[in-house]
Amino acid sequence: MAHDYDATGWREGASAWVENEALFDSVYTPVTAEIVERAGFRSNERALDVGCGSGTLLAAGTAAGSTMVGVDIAPDMVEAARRRVPEATVLLGDAQTMDIGAHAPGAPFERVVSRFGVMFFSDPTAAFANVRSVTAPGAHLVFVCWRSIAENPSFGGAGTEAITAALPDPPAPPPPGTPGPMAFADRDYLATILTDAGWDKVAVDPFDTVFDHSVDGSDGVEERLTLILATTTGRLAREQLDNTITTEKWSDVVERTREQIQTYVVDGSVKLPGALWLVTASNQH
Ligand SMILES: C[S@@+](CC[C@H](N)C(=O)[O-])C[C@H]1O[C@@H](n2cnc3c(N)ncnc32)[C@H](O)[C@@H]1O
Repeated sequence: MAHDYDATGWREGASAWVENEALFDSVYTPVTAEIVERAGFRSNERALDVGCGSGTLLAAGTAAGSTMVGVDIAPDMVEAARRRVPEATVLLGDAQTMDIGAHAPGAPFERVVSRFGVMFFSDPTAAFANVRSVTAPGAHLVFVCWRSIAENPSFGGAGTEAITAALPDPPAPPPPGTPGPMAFADRDYLATILTDAGWDKVAVDPFDTVFDHSVDGSDGVEERLTLILATTTGRLAREQLDNTITTEKWSDVVERTREQIQTYVVDGSVKLPGALWLVTASNQH
């Protein structure tokens, strides 16, 4: 529990994420498209992807001709990103403290991007200052992060309820402002962090989208179930129930989860609203 979203949590959880990278990419298609459009990757520029995971944005930037560098704290993510985007430099380390310029020497970065990779720092102001320190004057920052849990059934809803109810020690949502997916739910808090870290022209705009879980015409129910089991709720279930619950009882829990997911089928597939922030800033120093 204590390790849900710290380095240990990500190291332990990364393999399940990597196994399902194609599914995450499919569901997060609108987010990737928005970041890529806003980032405007160009050839002969260097761009940095913070919390790059298995390399979706590294692939997009490379395809546009940019020289991409990724940094991630989880070895399995780094390995997957290196495999997926061999042209990119992928660093294993904590973006909050790592001397990125020393590990990936070259021109300062023109762009910094992230898809859901910047909400896990113990000191976010220090982290965004550290990242800014390796950017060029005029460099652009573009990332997408989550708004509140209440607005995002992907967390704590849309099927997670049945599993959570079966846990002896159900998770309490991390308090706002602490590391976790919803660390930046508060817009003013987020804007202040970026300003204090030295970023200019900070804009935090609502970005409302829909996460369609259909793959190849499926109704998306099994895909949503797969993502639940691959992320925090599934990990907690394995930690807390693996040796205590009978197979039959677990099957019941999974069946109830499916039933809850079914209620999110709209026009033939599971569609969950995504309430996000689209964040842009620049380095004017
Ligand atoms: C929600 S995942 C997103 C991964 C990827 N950006 C994507 O969209 O597929 C968050 C990522 O941030 C990474 N991460 C968490 N804390 C980090 C830190 N302090 N420094 C670098 N990466 C970190 C995790 O290992 C994980 O890969």
